[in-house]
Amino acid sequence: MCGIVGYVGPKKAAPILLDGLRRLEYRGYDSAGLAVHDGREIEVVRAAGKLENLANALEQRPLCGSTGLGHTRWATHGRPSEQNAHPHAAGDVAVVHNGIIENYLELKHELQASGVRFASDTDTEIVAHLIHRALEQGAPNLFGAMRQALGRLRGAYALAAISRREPDRLVIAKNASPLVVGVGEGETLCGSDIPALLGSTRNMLFLEDGEMAELTASGVRIETVEGKPVERAPRRIDWSAVQAEKGGYKHFMLKEIFEQPRAVEDTLRGRINLDEGDVVEAELGLDAQAARSIERVVLVACGTSHHAALVGRYWIEQLARVAAHTELASEVRYRDPVFGPKDLVVAVSQSGETADTLAAVKAAREGGARVLAIANVLDSAIPRASHGSLYTHAGPEIGVASTKCFTTQLVALLLLAVHLGRRRGALDAERGREILQALLELPNELRWTLARKADIHQVARHWHNAPHMLFLGRGLGYPIALEGALKLKEISYSHAEGYAAGEMKHGPIALIDENMPVVVVMPRDRQYEKTLSNLQEVRARDGQVIAVVTEGDAEAKKLAQWVLELPKMPELTQPVAAVVPLQLLAYYIADLKGTDVDQPRNLAKTVTVE
Ligand code: AGP
Repeated sequence: MCGIVGYVGPKKAAPILLDGLRRLEYRGYDSAGLAVHDGREIEVVRAAGKLENLANALEQRPLCGSTGLGHTRWATHGRPSEQNAHPHAAGDVAVVHNGIIENYLELKHELQASGVRFASDTDTEIVAHLIHRALEQGAPNLFGAMRQALGRLRGAYALAAISRREPDRLVIAKNASPLVVGVGEGETLCGSDIPALLGSTRNMLFLEDGEMAELTASGVRIETVEGKPVERAPRRIDWSAVQAEKGGYKHFMLKEIFEQPRAVEDTLRGRINLDEGDVVEAELGLDAQAARSIERVVLVACGTSHHAALVGRYWIEQLARVAAHTELASEVRYRDPVFGPKDLVVAVSQSGETADTLAAVKAAREGGARVLAIANVLDSAIPRASHGSLYTHAGPEIGVASTKCFTTQLVALLLLAVHLGRRRGALDAERGREILQALLELPNELRWTLARKADIHQVARHWHNAPHMLFLGRGLGYPIALEGALKLKEISYSHAEGYAAGEMKHGPIALIDENMPVVVVMPRDRQYEKTLSNLQEVRARDGQVIAVVTEGDAEAKKLAQWVLELPKMPELTQPVAAVVPLQLLAYYIADLKGTDVDQPRNLAKTVTVE
């Protein structure tokens, strides 16, 4: 998500840090900053917006010194602003961070009770204060103070810190967010990603979870958080700058498909209370009284986000027992829609800026509805125009075709359904716990599915020249079929249709012959038998079936020509995994056709026009 660069050595740090941040610019960010030790003090310069703004600020206030930290921020806690930009300072310490501190509120209250005043709304500032407090209370040095602070943190972090008292070193630590160390000639660097370091060195080593390190000009010393020394030699990274940006994947879209387990973990982080079988979500602002007064939920969205909304509708009806509808924002805004104070309108948008969805939000507010945004970009227009928000933590998505934002939207919608169900008394703690447990298992189920990429590639090789493809699904599988078809259209330019399997006999069955590949989404669920009948109807007309099934489905294997497997998993969370083979199928077909996967023709990542 955020970008980190650190430098210690003989050269002026600021230009190296700025160069490192520029190399991370492709990932997107909302603010940036540097902290440099000038030999006496730590000076911090930060700016909201583009790196150009930071560069201009540095011209006004040049930073001298050869030890420092740089950061580009992708906001997760606290709106994008100069005040929330990193580095964050407390006493003698400055810190940059990538990740999410789960227990930040608890720690913030504790620190506030002991008199600490916060200058930002971020979770990161807490870490700076914890390190500072440890130093005040006698920690021997920055390394020891960082170790003490880590003992208090829960969550994901790549951290880098400098201290006024130790001008010649950086201290870094990692848990669940990447951190790379670059070992140069008489200089040492760290970064959140390989590209950040390529301007200085290609000799790199990777910190593992639960490790921390001290970086000086002469090298790196690694220990586990428990204090056990770790020996690790750097290795040479031969990636080009472009390869490094994509993490070695051929396209950003492929990288983002494989990032989904992590994106789901981050979206769940800190939001699950298993003891209570409930969702911890302060940002939603929906107490029991507000939740009980809702008579209708209307989900508004466009494109892929609309497909997520269609899945969300099933979950909300089933778990919260309230009528739920979906609306294409691009349609509802041009009707004369009727919204009222008993409506909860949920606007789903990865960018948070889609003009049609924003207009639907405004119409809902004018009608007196309560509006909740599900978005990936903090403080974007749609959350700003809403009463409450539930952010997905997918991190920046660069591929125009949405993948990890879709799966994290699904996760956010299921969290919302549980939250509503619990507040409305429609869902007991036991069932809530079961669903939350199912959500926690999702990252591994996604990994399982991704590991079967070779099967999917084989189907793509066979069918990449097919001019048409039909996607069928029922129940929760129907929106997934729609999404599979949209992905294929968007990036491969092949014609694809998504249909509710039960609608086959009402028209599309006329298309079926031996040249028509039909993808049938049919994991083991309550609709299984019926979808199996649809599969048989397709086979009876010589249609070619690619079935997305639960592992070990012998029946489907007998009937379908190709089978793409999902792990055995609870029915409710199946759609999150079921979309993955379809994303990969679209990707491999597009790649085999040689289209511009990351920037498909005629499409924009953020659609701010009508
Ligand atoms: C997704 O692959 C598409 N690029 C597109 O359908 C997108 O989902 C739609 O434009 C809505 O965007 P939003 O989620 O940013 O509101």
